[in-house]
Amino acid sequence: MTKKIFFAIILSALLYYSCENTPYVQGQFLYENKCANCHQSNGEGLGNLVPSLRSDKPADISSWVCIITGGKKDTIASDNSFLVREMPAFKNLSPTELANIINYVNHSFRPEFKETTIKEIQTYVAECVNNQ
Ligand code: HEC
Repeated sequence: MTKKIFFAIILSALLYYSCENTPYVQGQFLYENKCANCHQSNGEGLGNLVPSLRSDKPADISSWVCIITGGKKDTIASDNSFLVREMPAFKNLSPTELANIINYVNHSFRPEFKETTIKEIQTYVAECVNNQ
């Protein structure tokens, strides 16, 4: 067996394994690239700097959509002052990408997971813009 074939088999085994465990592959990819440096790969956040996304409660998807697309700051106080870091706005994510990230985060970090649809996300996005 040549080395190339050997690596191809290993790679497809790994891909198969990761797809089996994560139905939200694009969501995972986006999360790892855009969110994990602050909220961490396991969703636990960074102590007093960045809040955890893990919880026993289901996420409030409509407010998450507004937070992710519009950013958020100065709502959580630690040591008598607001967090140093702020949640940046991700204005360029499409409703599909938002649905994939939110479903990935919820599926991975929240036992009370309920899948959200792209259509629901579109409604929430429109509502956030109207609220501003
Ligand atoms: C630069 C660091 C940073 C990055 C990158 C980041 N966040 Fe945040 N996030 C924060 C901080 C800080 C807060 C808290 C802001 C506040 O309320 O003061 C926050 C808050 C949140 C909240 C609200 C949590 C709550 O309990 O109210 C959600 C949901 C969230 N982020 C999701 C995401 C997602 C999804 C991504 C990737 C698309 C992301 N964040 C990327 C720093 C970050």
